[in-house]
Amino acid sequence: MSGQHEGARRLRSRDWFDNAERMDMTALYLERFMNYGVTPEELRSGKPIIGIAQSGSDLSPCNRIHLELAKRTRDGIRDAGGIPIEFPVHPIFENCRRPTAALDRNLLYLGLVELLNGYPIDGVVLTTGCDKTTPSQIMAASTVDIPAIVLSGGPMLDGWHNGELVGSGTVIWRSRRKLSAGEIDEEEFLRRATDSAPSAGHCNSMGTASTMNAVAEALGMSLTGCAAIPAPYRERGQIAYRTGQRIVGMVHEDLRPSRILTREAFLNAIALVSVVGGSSNAHPHIVAMARHAGIELEPAIWQQHGYDLPLLVNMQPAGAYLGERFHRAGGVPAAMWELLQAGKLAQQPLTCTGASMADNLQGRESSDREMIRPFADPLMEKAGFLVLTGNLFDTSILKTSVISDEFRERYLSRPGHENVFEGRAIVFDGSDDYHHRINDPSLDIDENCILVIRGSGVIGWPGSAEVVNMQPPDALIRKGTQWLPTLGDGRQSGTSDSPSILNVSPESAAGGGLTWLRTGDTIRIDLNEGTCNALVEEGEIARRLSDDPEPPIPESQTPWEELFREKTGQLAEGGVMDFALKYRQTSRKLPR
Ligand code: FES
Ligand code: MG
Repeated sequence: MSGQHEGARRLRSRDWFDNAERMDMTALYLERFMNYGVTPEELRSGKPIIGIAQSGSDLSPCNRIHLELAKRTRDGIRDAGGIPIEFPVHPIFENCRRPTAALDRNLLYLGLVELLNGYPIDGVVLTTGCDKTTPSQIMAASTVDIPAIVLSGGPMLDGWHNGELVGSGTVIWRSRRKLSAGEIDEEEFLRRATDSAPSAGHCNSMGTASTMNAVAEALGMSLTGCAAIPAPYRERGQIAYRTGQRIVGMVHEDLRPSRILTREAFLNAIALVSVVGGSSNAHPHIVAMARHAGIELEPAIWQQHGYDLPLLVNMQPAGAYLGERFHRAGGVPAAMWELLQAGKLAQQPLTCTGASMADNLQGRESSDREMIRPFADPLMEKAGFLVLTGNLFDTSILKTSVISDEFRERYLSRPGHENVFEGRAIVFDGSDDYHHRINDPSLDIDENCILVIRGSGVIGWPGSAEVVNMQPPDALIRKGTQWLPTLGDGRQSGTSDSPSILNVSPESAAGGGLTWLRTGDTIRIDLNEGTCNALVEEGEIARRLSDDPEPPIPESQTPWEELFREKTGQLAEGGVMDFALKYRQTSRKLPR
């Protein structure tokens, strides 16, 4: 029997299941799949085979909802005339892999490329949630280039503690300071943490998970309104069903990632990150997804397309609220609607719905202006990432939306020197060194210091650790200093409210300028000029480079760590494995 679209285009799965030249192989492929309810006739009929890349497991609690949602997705696929085939991807759980779950992003990518490329899959539903589970799967779908759609798992319900909203992650960083100040005890610290995570779902603040799922939607890779629906909500199951239906249509339309992931789509995503107050981790992940799609986003693009945009979404850590209210206020489409009206969004990019981005956003204006502010009346002007350069590194970024009034007042408001800060560097070699020495009185750390961490980059840690949001010594916190300026070649959690200079590239382990920096050097940061320099003479830098030992980095502890260190590039280039970029549209050729 022929499928209804028979004659239009032969699907790649038929080379496995209906191959006249290799009947012996076809028979082999067919016999085992029948064990769970798929008939040989069906498999040979030309119905699209739709993979469900299952990222949920007990090791991935943020994505665990997908174990349930997949049933709805299967129904959607079946009802639209497809055959669902569910398979696992490498689990990634941010918290348990702290501080370097980034190590796993490229591992999931590699594994998923092999699965999508090597099996009879015509299209795929990418189930996403926890931070890196989104970019890694989009990267893989891009390399293979079969029709792909993102199904977010959605954030947890809002967390409440003693009548206050407590956002996952954000409450940890804030409570850690209170613990150091002696304002709360460890029991209270734990209660705050557990109260922030009241249900299934990923982080409920605008951390990396919410940011990257919003980015997937802004790229046109998921159905309109998908990203922000909380995991336990009724609408989450409904969109899982509709996503399953839609991917079957995408296969018939041959709507592949290469038609969706254009330069304009990535610029739209960068703009969205600014208005939602998104995670600084969006920086390497967007660059990585773009490079796997064959698009180079030069560092300055963050400033050109993101920095001047205002903060509109009032969500922790940059704002006050959490995911449930964001969803009720209209979610990602409402935030993008503001950009569209302001002329800050490319309208034409094609999306997975089959319509343009502008068409998807019709009628999506928010009705909750406390949660999603109008473009003309934002929470903050110029709220995107500032790109800094200087003698310590070629590229770093600063997420300006989390610069608090208190921090601005203290460090960036000297009369005649607005946005300029000079401080004494305190240099740590990795996070162990930071934890051992931060409270050492002999370092004499005061309000005029800048905390620097090196050896925490892609090669240094390895994986690039989320450690740059270093808190001041306990004694300083007790005196009322919540933040010191911080700088480092690692990353930081997207839920952190620390205005750090981070994602420094090249990192010290790759010979970057942090290598020669010493405790006691003066660092000058000029946000007007976009510069960050150590005030050290050229001759002295040369002398240190020839005489001083290189900063120590820890040994690799697993085979993957060693391979990762060999093959992975710097954060400014997305932290991708450069050799992988030459593999594009691999589904065009049948696997041997
Ligand atoms: Fe998984 Fe935040 S730890 S989403
Ligand atoms: Mg994180």
